[in-house]
Amino acid sequence: MTQIPMVDLQVQYQQLKGEIDRALAAVLDTSHYILGPQGQAFEAEAAAYLGVKHAVAVASGTDALHLALRAAGLGPGDEVITSPFTFIATAEAIAYVGATPVFVDIDPQTFNIDPELARKAITARTRAILPVHLFGQPADLAPLQAMCDEHGLLLIEDCAQSFGATYAGRQTGSWGALGCFSFFPSKNLGCYGDGGMVVTGDDRLAEQLRMLRNHGSKVRYHHDIIGYNSRLDEMQAAILNVKLRHIDRFNQLRRQNAHYYSERLADAGVVPPREDGKGVHVYHQYTLLTDRREAVQQALTTAGCASAIYYPIPLHRQNVFAAAFGGVSLPVSESVAARCLSLPIFPELNQEQMDRVVAAVRGA
Ligand SMILES: Cc1ncc(COP(=O)(O)O)c(C=O)c1O
Repeated sequence: MTQIPMVDLQVQYQQLKGEIDRALAAVLDTSHYILGPQGQAFEAEAAAYLGVKHAVAVASGTDALHLALRAAGLGPGDEVITSPFTFIATAEAIAYVGATPVFVDIDPQTFNIDPELARKAITARTRAILPVHLFGQPADLAPLQAMCDEHGLLLIEDCAQSFGATYAGRQTGSWGALGCFSFFPSKNLGCYGDGGMVVTGDDRLAEQLRMLRNHGSKVRYHHDIIGYNSRLDEMQAAILNVKLRHIDRFNQLRRQNAHYYSERLADAGVVPPREDGKGVHVYHQYTLLTDRREAVQQALTTAGCASAIYYPIPLHRQNVFAAAFGGVSLPVSESVAARCLSLPIFPELNQEQMDRVVAAVRGA
């Protein structure tokens, strides 16, 4: 029995092999590896695709968040309102700059930050709201942007899982003052190593980001601020230049696969993921809810199908934040974390594979 993995990067590479191999060979031929024409081309294409003025490619999604918060000047004493139901990097970046994450609960339908709870969490110290477009579904950006405008806060989007997702017809990442992307290999748009990007419409923030990613320098060996080594290398940029040409097709296939599952799981005693109708969900993950998670996961394992729990522990319950948030209860996040289960949802899944996954879930 062949195993069905959570994501199969090999099958996609085989489909794109000609294009990818040519792109990598071109980089090797020039031997220009850091901050070169591939990265520049990728930044220009990605900015045009997303409808933003500036795109600054960096070394990872975590760095994208970190550098975005640094560029925005956030630091000790500042509060950043965010979701507890996300990957740790969202909150790590807030901690890196010395600011304080303030976790507010999520919407039980979309798993994204609940705008009304975000509004209630605003204090005199709040500087930014950092929604995560979790699993590829845009957070409810309109009310979040309205409250940022009203209170003079920055909207900073974590788009690590949402490349190509739109809200009210506009790309995620183009709403906030800053949008932060990850190109980790398994992401909707992924390279073959670590990679990330920050987008912004603000010239000053873009200039800061370009300096921060390159040792605080605008002109070689002239350093104006303390920066980092956080550049997207040319090999990764070359791969992304190829894959960006296919992103709409990949996302469309993810959506088709998700709808295929949802139609067949609607009466299976699980809660399939729900789209809120405000935007286009690109299904970085297909995450359902079940009260019988262990049994469903066991049935999938027996059928040779991978599954995963994204995420088993919300951030306010993580050891690292226990001291600050030990007494805080965020019941929706806690309940979702106890019941969520993600199924394989990569674009190249075939019908036979999806039928096997569906049969295992229904069997359980
Ligand atoms: C929501 C979210 N934010 C941030 C990150 C960090 O991205 P990276 O792994 O590229 O550092 C990830 C992915 O890993 C993520 O899923």
